[in-house]
Amino acid sequence: MAETHGLMIMLLIILEKLLLTNTKVLLPDANVTCIIPDDCILPCSFRPTGTVVIHWYKQQIPVHSYYYNKDQFGLQNKHFSGRTCLFNSHIPHGNASLLLRRVKVQDKGRYKCYTSTRKGNQEIFVNLEVKALIQSVIMEMTDEMVTCSSHNIYPVPQVTWATDPPSAQKTLENSTIKSTDHKGLLTVESTLRILGNLSNYTYICSFIAADKTQVWTASRKNREGITQEEGHALTIPCITPHNLQNFSLTWTFTSSTEPTVILRYDSKTRHTFNLWEGQAELDQDLLLLGDGSLLLHKPDIEEHSGTYTCTISGLQSRHIVQTKVNITVASISVDEQSVQRSWWSTAASAAFFLFTITVALPQCVRQRGTAVETRSASHDRSNGAGFVEGGLHKHLSATASYIIGQHGVEGNRPQLQFEAQDELAGSTPNTAEDCSVALPPGTNTEQEEKPVGPPVEGNDGLQSSSMERDGCGNIEAGLHIA
Ligand SMILES: *[C@@H]1O[C@H](CO)[C@@H](O)[C@H](O)[C@H]1NC(C)=O
Ligand SMILES: *[C@@H]1O[C@H](CO)[C@@H](O)[C@H](O)[C@H]1NC(C)=O
Ligand SMILES: *[C@@H]1O[C@H](CO)[C@@H](O)[C@H](O)[C@H]1NC(C)=O
Ligand SMILES: *[C@@H]1O[C@H](CO)[C@@H](O)[C@H](O)[C@H]1NC(C)=O
Ligand SMILES: *[C@@H]1O[C@H](CO)[C@@H](O)[C@H](O)[C@H]1NC(C)=O
Ligand SMILES: *[C@@H]1O[C@H](CO)[C@@H](O)[C@H](O)[C@H]1NC(C)=O
Ligand SMILES: *[C@@H]1O[C@H](CO)[C@@H](O)[C@H](O)[C@H]1NC(C)=O
Repeated sequence: MAETHGLMIMLLIILEKLLLTNTKVLLPDANVTCIIPDDCILPCSFRPTGTVVIHWYKQQIPVHSYYYNKDQFGLQNKHFSGRTCLFNSHIPHGNASLLLRRVKVQDKGRYKCYTSTRKGNQEIFVNLEVKALIQSVIMEMTDEMVTCSSHNIYPVPQVTWATDPPSAQKTLENSTIKSTDHKGLLTVESTLRILGNLSNYTYICSFIAADKTQVWTASRKNREGITQEEGHALTIPCITPHNLQNFSLTWTFTSSTEPTVILRYDSKTRHTFNLWEGQAELDQDLLLLGDGSLLLHKPDIEEHSGTYTCTISGLQSRHIVQTKVNITVASISVDEQSVQRSWWSTAASAAFFLFTITVALPQCVRQRGTAVETRSASHDRSNGAGFVEGGLHKHLSATASYIIGQHGVEGNRPQLQFEAQDELAGSTPNTAEDCSVALPPGTNTEQEEKPVGPPVEGNDGLQSSSMERDGCGNIEAGLHIA
């Protein structure tokens, strides 16, 4: 008993000395930076001697209190309601750190940790800085303006503009607008006037976080349109702006329909998704060098005319190249020939048809209805009609050439006539076949993958977790995940 008593006194003397020296030493404010809307620990420790009273204040506002060995919420400011806790099991070991959950812009400021034990009082200050990370930078372009914006950031970042090829900084007149939402988060939008021709430059904007820990870059080039005859292989350029190591590349095609992702490549997995397999491809070797140009093997007027957008996304960067592609019909001379030819075909067929009706038909009035079935006539048929039809066919051909000859048309005319007929017979099903192969634009979109939208901005969907009214308890474990 006496032994214990003596030990206690000795301990108290030592502690008192320590405490006295402690009050003499003014600790500098601790500095803590927390990311909105993460959880955040404001550190505070004291020398444990029996029961303790803990008060956390922000300026004069009560944030969290602890005495009689439990949390006391009676005086807590409602701004902090349900968002604070202490590590109760660590308090006996001198840990008075405050866990502030779902940090907000308004939380920033200077906090005081007051602790009181039998052996004295202590005040420790913590400066809390907050920041909301840049999560995306969106670049939009019209014929006159290029705009870069980012939402839900804090504090104000630095915005810079550049072009490739470079142009004098003073020619890059930008205006930057900031707006604050009810949570105190910022939307920053910077606009630059296009220099001369839209397609002459790549426009680059950078959002640099106030503490320089993040630099987000968006760049875009709207290339001059490409006009190309159908059927001739075509390359649509898209090269990464700088040597990106890890990137994903997406080619999107837009015509009259919704944008369709036609090709996607991931440099990490080297996996390629290709909706236009066989029609379009990327050169795998060039890809490794950052060249994601798209090769169209046999561009088609209907299927491949439209806007091609190449998006290269890397770590905190996005580069877009947009090109309008106009696939035109094959060259004019060939075109005219084919028009003439088809005119002749039509004329010749018409003539042939006319002769069939006016000359051949009267000779076999009785079989009039079955005349079209000439093809089947070559087969043996038990009924007489078959033979009659066969005969008719021969007769028609003979008559036709005879009459054409008689009318004194040039020697090549009958030949043309039959050629035309062959062509007609052959070309009609061909056309039908083409139609069935050439899927209408809408058909492609059935398997369409929606283009990747801009990354989710902000994070309003705060995890609603049951409020811990009695210490941080299991939150301690959860903290590592947050
Ligand atoms: C915290 O920042 C202030 C000024 O920003 C500085 O004076 C102080 O020394 C810093 N505290 C620590 C512990 O580094
Ligand atoms: C208090 O305990 C928490 C939870 O274990 C820990 O994260 C924190 O660093 C401790 N603070 C001090 C000042 O020891
Ligand atoms: C953009 O505007 C800011 C301030 O408005 C200015 O400091 C900067 O020089 C301008 N130009 C570029 C290229 O960022
Ligand atoms: C824009 O391009 C056209 C040709 O495409 C050229 O005639 C014109 O001079 C260009 N203008 C500027 C400002 O570069
Ligand atoms: C812009 O591009 C057009 C055609 O691409 C070219 O004729 C013109 O000289 C360029 N202008 C400048 C200022 O580079
Ligand atoms: C690219 O990704 C790999 C695998 O995730 C990683 O190890 C590497 O550091 C990344 N490189 C860069 C430059 O980010
Ligand atoms: C495509 O090019 C042709 C021929 O140059 C032109 O007549 C047509 O208007 C162009 N179409 C588009 C959408 O630019």
